[in-house]
Amino acid sequence: MNDPLTSLETSRRRFVLSGLAAVGLSGCGGGGGGFAAMMGASPGNAANAQASGVLISGGQTWKSLSLLSNESGTPGAFAGSLTAATTSAALTAGVSTQILGYNGISPGPMIEAYEGDRVRVAFMNRLEQDSTVHWHGMPIPADQDGNPMDPVATGSARDYAFVLPAGSAGSYWYHPHPHQTTHEQVFRGLASAFVVRSRTDPLASLPERIVFITDLRLDALGQIAGNTAADFRNGREGDQLLVNGARQPVDMVAPGQTERWRIYNATNARYLQIVLDGATMHVVALDGSMLAAPKTVSALLLAPAQRADVVIRVPVSANQNVTARTVAYNRGTGIPVQPGEVLFALTTSSGAVVPAFAMPSPLSTPPAIGAPQRTQTVVLNDMGMGMGMGMGMGGSFTINGRGFDPGRDDMTMHVGIPEEWIVRNDGMMDHPLHIHGCAFQLVASTRSDIAGDPRLSAFMDTVNVRPGETLRLHLQIDGPGRRMFHCHILEHEDQGMMGVVNVQ
Ligand code: C2O
Ligand code: CU
Ligand code: CU
Repeated sequence: MNDPLTSLETSRRRFVLSGLAAVGLSGCGGGGGGFAAMMGASPGNAANAQASGVLISGGQTWKSLSLLSNESGTPGAFAGSLTAATTSAALTAGVSTQILGYNGISPGPMIEAYEGDRVRVAFMNRLEQDSTVHWHGMPIPADQDGNPMDPVATGSARDYAFVLPAGSAGSYWYHPHPHQTTHEQVFRGLASAFVVRSRTDPLASLPERIVFITDLRLDALGQIAGNTAADFRNGREGDQLLVNGARQPVDMVAPGQTERWRIYNATNARYLQIVLDGATMHVVALDGSMLAAPKTVSALLLAPAQRADVVIRVPVSANQNVTARTVAYNRGTGIPVQPGEVLFALTTSSGAVVPAFAMPSPLSTPPAIGAPQRTQTVVLNDMGMGMGMGMGMGGSFTINGRGFDPGRDDMTMHVGIPEEWIVRNDGMMDHPLHIHGCAFQLVASTRSDIAGDPRLSAFMDTVNVRPGETLRLHLQIDGPGRRMFHCHILEHEDQGMMGVVNVQ
């Protein structure tokens, strides 16, 4: 089945292809060998990438994501255009940083549409390598989902078209998903939010704040540093967190204001353990799905690619601060633990006090998934970690013992038939598993602290799996086609920690 000669040959072919594809991508640094060398990154400035990077100054005024304008004049339709290209950004005084942007900006423009809308996005790839646009978490047809098997070649265009089904309202996002270069296209800037709205949203009266979190690492010259060998092993973490592209932004709000935050972890590999000073977080949705009832948490863990909608109320007196910050999170053996960092801060103004918001109850009635008719097992592993260089392509990061092969179906499912997936992490670090084309329900975990976790029985498209943990997921995929499932630490995904489930 898994002929070693065939996979070696496949690896060689991939190596050549990705080497070619990476030539000409914005003069990146990086290096260190292994996958980095395969990617064609020059080892030149690997050292200064870590040592003395430029930090963006904090305390900028809050900035919302800009909106992608709807070019359709027809009610019930959204039409827009996205162009991916190298561009520059003034992130820090006197320096022009080369980035990748959608329509010239990073994060790209946010897309906003309604359940039932027909969506058409004209995508133009002006990158110097293949790309795709993947609509993360959205229940749309497989052939519109921007899979790595459907690349949009450099210099060419394609339309993505789909209908947003009833009940799909939620916080989604979009990002590139090309074969083996996703991690770099994302850390250089390509991603943004896609919010699907409902005309019957019980929280529609609340002001919303999109909190789109990315992390960045600049070198000493203020350019985005390339990946090191450690980044390929651990997943790349930046040395500064950005919110909507700004560092530690601040904003004023009316005292007593209740807000709904849509918080996104759009980093390659950083785990965001978020705490709030000055207010209480009530989780109302995870990924694209609203919870049945709000869950109050003192800390919110968002693994890469996860989202949470939270409702908060700021203090009722003037001049009070609400600060969102991260605290340290240990995600596995041998991985440096990032120190906590302030994300953003709000200060209450001296206006009239906004009355309290009455939280609706129940919030929603989540769909019931039928009894699973089949059980399948998914084992995540990161064997070979810590063994230094020379990790083969797909040899270190595996699902069910194999590295990704775009031509192979790793699993099959039947349209609309519920299954149980037993997901086990045999590796040494956390891996966030993401499954395309569905929202799965977390029904159990071997972790002793799962009972109080807002994720238990929630519907999600990405779930973290700790080393040694086994999860049970219930899922059903409603459209046919080949769907990706993978670790959303993008360096792991690109090194083979991905599979295809063929839904027939
Ligand atoms: Cu957000 Cu397959 O990815
Ligand atoms: Cu996805
Ligand atoms: Cu992983």
